[in-house]
Amino acid sequence: MTQIDTSVPHSARIWNYWLGGKDNYPVDEAAGDAYTAVFPGIVTIARSSRAFLGRSIRYLVREAGVRQFLDVGTGLPTVDNTHEVAQRLAPEARIVYVDNDPLVLAHARALLTSTPEGATAYEPISLFEPEEVLAAAGKTLDLTRPTALILSGILGHVADYDQARDLVRRLLAGLPSGSHLSLNEGSRGTDPAYEQAQDAYNETGAVPYFLRPVEQIEAFFEGLELVAPGVVSVPLWHPEPGAPTDPIGQHGGLGRKP
Ligand SMILES: C[S@@+](CC[C@H](N)C(=O)[O-])C[C@H]1O[C@@H](n2cnc3c(N)ncnc32)[C@H](O)[C@@H]1O
Repeated sequence: MTQIDTSVPHSARIWNYWLGGKDNYPVDEAAGDAYTAVFPGIVTIARSSRAFLGRSIRYLVREAGVRQFLDVGTGLPTVDNTHEVAQRLAPEARIVYVDNDPLVLAHARALLTSTPEGATAYEPISLFEPEEVLAAAGKTLDLTRPTALILSGILGHVADYDQARDLVRRLLAGLPSGSHLSLNEGSRGTDPAYEQAQDAYNETGAVPYFLRPVEQIEAFFEGLELVAPGVVSVPLWHPEPGAPTDPIGQHGGLGRKP
């Protein structure tokens, strides 16, 4: 496992900064501020992405009866982590977190506060090793039973689109019928300032993150049955009453494996 490098900004730490967390270093704050100077909307995007994740987990528990979650690209602990949202509704829910950032590993204890009825585990593995991810998840989850795969803001880190598609396919291949994919990603085509800020971020030495056209985000769900309303700008996906529904450059959806 690589050491925590505080000389270059890191995805999980900058995301944590925009979410209002404290688990970040001056280099992350500087990169985060440089980004918001060009595109302040990123803070709304980060928070809307987390809010979408929460709503999709609540849907999975309540409407789809899912009790197992595999959250790849977990990020640093924040309010409403996956296991907290799921276990609030279903204390027996079991969650496996996967991330390859050493700082996420260092904070993983905060992710492992399960209800006695359920379970949480953390596996420090890369998304680029999907079969290893599945093997490790199988220690905590029963992968013959429906499982929700969560990919929230991670696939943009896979520069090659075909490779990103392949990784999603290989992860879903290890899950049975009735499993789901909850995915949301930064999208191109909404605001040139967003694209400009992202291009500059990708020059900072951090692992780059690529915004994708909405059609490419949609195509990650190939072979799945999309839950209505499909892949949309995240504030428009099952909004809470009274919540803002202005479209933003973050698209996502939920799909069921037939
Ligand atoms: C933008 S953050 C999103 C965090 C969280 N999923 C959320 O939606 O708030 C991206 C996360 O993906 C993780 N990540 C990036 N590349 C990865 C890889 N190859 N394998 C596992 N995790 C990775 C980063 O460490 C970071 O925690």
